[in-house]
Amino acid sequence: MADPLVLGIETSCDETGVGIVRGTELLANEVASSMELHVRFGGVVPEVASRAHLEAMVPTLQRALATAEVDPSELDAVAVTAGPGLMGALAVGVAAAKASAVAWHKPLYGVNHLVGHVAVDLVDHGDLPTPCIALLVSGGHTSLLLVRDIASDITELGATIDDAAGEAYDKVARVLGLSYPGGPVIDREATGSPTAIRFPRGLTSRRDLERHRYDFSFSGLKTAVARWVEIAERDGVDYRLGDVAASFQEAVCDVLVRKALDACTSLGVEHLLIGGGVAANSRLRSMLAERAPAAGVQVRSPRPGLCTDNGAMIAAVGVELVRRGLPPSPPAFGATSSLPVATVVL
Ligand code: KG4
Ligand code: ZN
Repeated sequence: MADPLVLGIETSCDETGVGIVRGTELLANEVASSMELHVRFGGVVPEVASRAHLEAMVPTLQRALATAEVDPSELDAVAVTAGPGLMGALAVGVAAAKASAVAWHKPLYGVNHLVGHVAVDLVDHGDLPTPCIALLVSGGHTSLLLVRDIASDITELGATIDDAAGEAYDKVARVLGLSYPGGPVIDREATGSPTAIRFPRGLTSRRDLERHRYDFSFSGLKTAVARWVEIAERDGVDYRLGDVAASFQEAVCDVLVRKALDACTSLGVEHLLIGGGVAANSRLRSMLAERAPAAGVQVRSPRPGLCTDNGAMIAAVGVELVRRGLPPSPPAFGATSSLPVATVVL
């Protein structure tokens, strides 16, 4: 099939997303976020997120169809995030997708959210290069993937052994008295010197690299920032928030970029794709632009607005599945909160 038309539904965390993609063309990407309901708690409250999905689902679906000027009868398939994510939140999306697919007589694919973060770049830069290394950096996950085929052949080379990169941003933001979500706020506040403070680079010592070459660790960095701030405040040091933010950000991005480029060069893979909320980070993108050419690596990064959770990324996975003629998911499939990244579709 040349250019499948797929509607994708995403509800794994706090964004209700509905996207419509035809081939590599993005027709609609409607996102309703419940973020502001979680701000005062400093993180996503699952029950609150689930209820917000229930309220936002139908209007978001209708807006996406109207924006794309698509009638459901024209769709080739519906795709929905089956996992990983918050159980209650996922369940709302899966129920809505099942109801829609049955009502519209369309095949339904229950797909992997993480794969969506990788696949979404096809709407910005065309068909995915294969093989490629994917650096997946979100609020809940941080891993390096070898993608030989986006629909059927994904190998996890390594992952975080503690906090995800986005989680580190969110926790450090809290330490610095900044609001949730911390990633965009720190990105904005990081106006000082990235070399002001030398924060630790987790799992980069020679000994760690032997066992954890493609793994990450950010909890030591988070603790180091908290300790540094605590000591500075105890001693009455007049430090600049911009220096702490920039130095923390430099440490995160340095490790991500080093390990991603190492995976490319050591496995002989020319293409690096970045995805997930942290892939929106301005320093991660500029550092890759600085260092990738010397490693002979070409980087693909979706526009920042497609890095955070949305429905188009799920539609993009659906497009790849329909293109390959893969069968839809069994009707009884359910939300799977800890779906492994290698399972592209249920
Ligand atoms: O992919 P995503 O929207 O949701 C998950 O699947 O987790 O990622 C959300 C994470 C949050 O931790 C947020 O702080 C982080 O992505 N994030 C950023 C930026 N924008 C969002 N981190 C660093 N810099 C950014 N500009
Ligand atoms: Zn995500």
